[in-house]
Amino acid sequence: MKRFDGKVVLITGGGGAIGSAAARRFHAEGARVCVVDMDFGRAEEVAGQFGDAGLAIAADVAVEDDSEHAVSECLAHFNRLDVVFNNAGISGTATPVQNMEVEEWDRVLQINLRGVFMILRASLRAMIDRAIPGSIVNMGSSMAGWDVLSGGAHYAASKHAIVGLTKTAALDAAPWGIRINAICPGVIETTLGVPASDRDSYLKGVARFAKRIPLRRIGTPDDVAATVCFLASEDARHVTGADWLIDGGQTLQSWANAPAADAYPSSIDGPR
Ligand SMILES: NC(=O)c1ccc[n+]([C@@H]2O[C@H](COP(=O)([O-])OP(=O)(O)OC[C@H]3O[C@@H](n4cnc5c(N)ncnc54)[C@H](O)[C@@H]3O)[C@@H](O)[C@H]2O)c1
Repeated sequence: MKRFDGKVVLITGGGGAIGSAAARRFHAEGARVCVVDMDFGRAEEVAGQFGDAGLAIAADVAVEDDSEHAVSECLAHFNRLDVVFNNAGISGTATPVQNMEVEEWDRVLQINLRGVFMILRASLRAMIDRAIPGSIVNMGSSMAGWDVLSGGAHYAASKHAIVGLTKTAALDAAPWGIRINAICPGVIETTLGVPASDRDSYLKGVARFAKRIPLRRIGTPDDVAATVCFLASEDARHVTGADWLIDGGQTLQSWANAPAADAYPSSIDGPR
């Protein structure tokens, strides 16, 4: 018996590095998987690996009609919805907050927060209507949901908000037996979007950063997928409202025991 036999899982940003790893893991554990992405080609590529157990859905989660449609298409095709991995997100352009354009702020918040809220709401309504005691996992961040990143005010605001949204929604949904948790990954090695010409410098940066992590390595999409599947499964049946770190101990570092500051210089230059 696999953990997700008979279950239907919807994953937003399912065509990306972390989303596709989660889709493969859920499928390997018995699930039928709806792969939602605004890049339909990527969604099709991932869902196509699962035969009849996969469905690609084109949707921009920041658009209300698209979010509603993603959930209703999943229900129309598989006739149920047990698990949602609310994962689609962008990091935005790194800019000091004093120089940040309102348009860039809005762009990040609309996808990372508004999009997560709308998928969450549509999924909860579907689960409540069908009396399915489902599980929802929202994507936060350790570097920006627990910690902060210079130049990433929009990203950090969106990911901190995910933790508040998750805890509140977990309370609201608990009477229906629906569990809602957030995951907060640290740096995850995702070479998928890195052009071949930048790959070497990306991997050097990853190796340098690994030295600052207590467990001495960068996380992988499979590390994240394993935790998402745990939280979504019956094994985590008494876990709700958690903001689950997956960061190799990265956030345990304080100023007193952190490695030399120049190991990871700030992206922002200033007079001091
Ligand atoms: N990679 C990391 O180090 C890291 C760490 C912590 C958290 N995260 C979070 O993990 C999530 C996935 O990141 P990733 O590294 O796999 O990135 P990725 O770029 O590989 O994947 C993101 C996917 O989301 C899709 N997407 C973007 N905007 C969308 C929208 N509006 N509607 C629908 N789909 C959309 C993209 O097309 C892409 O396929 C993000 O929320 C990110 O903030 C990543």
